[in-house]
Amino acid sequence: MPIPDATQQRHAELSRQLHHHSYLYHGLDAPQISDAEYDALLRELLALEQQYPDLITPNSPSQRVGSTPLPGFRQISHRLPMLSLENAFSVADLHAFDARIRRFLASDQPVEYLCEMKLDGVAIELVYHAGRLQHASTRGDGLVGEDITANARTLGAIPLQLQHQPPAYLEVRGEVYMELAPFRQLNQQRREEGEKTFANPRNATAGSLRQLDPRLTAARPLTISCYGLGEVEGANLPTNQLDMLQQLRTWGLRVNLETVFLAADIDQVVQRYQQLRAEREQLPFEIDGMVVKVNSFGLQQELGEKSRTPRWAIACKFPPRQQQTRVESVRYQVGRTGAITPVANLEPVNVSGVMVSSASLHNWDEIARLGIRIGDTVIVERAGDVIPDVVKVVTEKRTGNEQPIPEPQFCPACGAKVVRGTDEVVPRCQGLDCPAKLREALKHFVARGAMDIEGLGERLLDQLLALGLVTSIADLYTLNKEDFFKLERMGEVLAEKLLTAINNSRQRPLEKLLFGLGIRHIGAHLAKILSRKFGSLQHLSKASRDELLATHEVGPQIADSLLTFFSDPKNLDLLQRLNAAGVRPETLQLPAGDRLADKVFVFTGALERFSRSEGQQMVEAQGARASGSVSKKTDFVVAGPGAGSKLARAEQLGITILNEEQFLQLLKEDES
Ligand code: IVH
Repeated sequence: MPIPDATQQRHAELSRQLHHHSYLYHGLDAPQISDAEYDALLRELLALEQQYPDLITPNSPSQRVGSTPLPGFRQISHRLPMLSLENAFSVADLHAFDARIRRFLASDQPVEYLCEMKLDGVAIELVYHAGRLQHASTRGDGLVGEDITANARTLGAIPLQLQHQPPAYLEVRGEVYMELAPFRQLNQQRREEGEKTFANPRNATAGSLRQLDPRLTAARPLTISCYGLGEVEGANLPTNQLDMLQQLRTWGLRVNLETVFLAADIDQVVQRYQQLRAEREQLPFEIDGMVVKVNSFGLQQELGEKSRTPRWAIACKFPPRQQQTRVESVRYQVGRTGAITPVANLEPVNVSGVMVSSASLHNWDEIARLGIRIGDTVIVERAGDVIPDVVKVVTEKRTGNEQPIPEPQFCPACGAKVVRGTDEVVPRCQGLDCPAKLREALKHFVARGAMDIEGLGERLLDQLLALGLVTSIADLYTLNKEDFFKLERMGEVLAEKLLTAINNSRQRPLEKLLFGLGIRHIGAHLAKILSRKFGSLQHLSKASRDELLATHEVGPQIADSLLTFFSDPKNLDLLQRLNAAGVRPETLQLPAGDRLADKVFVFTGALERFSRSEGQQMVEAQGARASGSVSKKTDFVVAGPGAGSKLARAEQLGITILNEEQFLQLLKEDES
């Protein structure tokens, strides 16, 4: 469809303005229009591009990070198809691969192979023009993928600009993945915040790359390892795979060079495969096999490719971490908040070296999603998250005798009634003195990350509970040596150690205690934010809903959870007892220079005494933040002459408005 001149001009003008404002916002931290004004321009541009897709260029502001979420992903054709690999599952398959290659080449010489890890993530292609990142796309069906450029730009591991004489045009392929430690941390955080967790790092990676809002991708711990080329123009390329990987690294691309292995022949490939299989468990990320590639590009070319896979490479897979087994029964676990979790008791099965005999079913939504029943044959997977997961029911194996998994009516630990709230996926025990809740609360309280009472593990806690020596968290602080001597295999030295550990925990910082109390929705991260803002339990316990809501990252659910906790006399009594027992986390005396900590400033209008970025630096130096738009969470608006909509909004919301003079004065007071 021909594009009318006026439309082209309007599009060019919108692009120019958006680039300019985006530069002011991201590059200089000095926005001159409000977010809403920016969005309006962007929406107009997106509408034009939707009507005339030819208007979309790699440089369109619609493709930039920081733009508002895109309406959907565009499709991108790969100039050269992104092939996939044939699989080998055994040493015999590897020998057959080598034999095939030598037959094809009519050679009796050994072939040199490069062995790479097969990372378990998402394959993408990056396109660089004159060294600048132009596009990123997923593999898709190999011919057409999804445009994820805006998201890819948020990965620190993806260079936006290549170094050392990059080619005029370069297509690079690689695997985006998530390491295990950050993956588990991400899941932990999601668990704490009541969100669904990811089954494995690959799902987490795919989900993170397919965010329509690049800011969400930016918050995910993704990285990349590059392993291949697409089309390249204007460069003398190396003549083999290993040198090519080295060249990619020189250009600034991320390559897991340390783990590649150059094998002189197929026997060395087999050795490396067996070695890698053993190393697999120790790696900080998931691999599902080893990729074997003919090292020489000359030979690769000679071998060529079949319809979807090259003849010169193969993926040698590791045994799956999935197994079939049967659900024998279901038990119910009571968590520290009373949440009752269904856990499947499985017929024990060996999943790549680890015996698995139970798996959490998480909640009744998950049970419904899987359609799982007692007696079902299921597939369990051990992936990333150390704990195995039921991924699927093998419905073909049903006999008709399978039983639905009932929701408990009473707490299995204390017999109290259980209640499932309307928006909840699990029922909760309502018992005030449920021993299971207490046990879990204690475990959480003493854990590393919370009060960190070393040596006081599950085994000892269970005995303390069984003997009735501990009936509340506060009782931990009244235990004496005689009490400990009542426990099995307890000697003088260990008892001393435990008492010291308990004593040391009295001085843990507030954030640790706050986290340790196990208040719903208050994970380690929020505990830190809250303790920085409120400085003491006393302040926090008296905070109003509005004060809580005005805190960074605190929404209604979290505010209500805190209000509920601090309004329960039982909890107040616990805090009182902890305090009496000498558990007094250092009350954070916000030092003078910290009085502005966490306050949010917005600068608007034509500032004359300092630039916006200087203003931002000044507030950040005091632990405060600068934001581009005015909201309820804004604490101060610093307005220069000519301030418009932001000033009006601040007045409307009753936010303190300062002129430049007053602002500088405020900072000065803070330093004194
Ligand atoms: S080479 C023609 N190398 O495995 C070359 N792939 O089934 C094709 N993968 O889609 C890919 N690590 O997602 C290659 N070192 C590696 C790899 C690797 C992971 C993935 C990639 C690809 C799939 C092939």
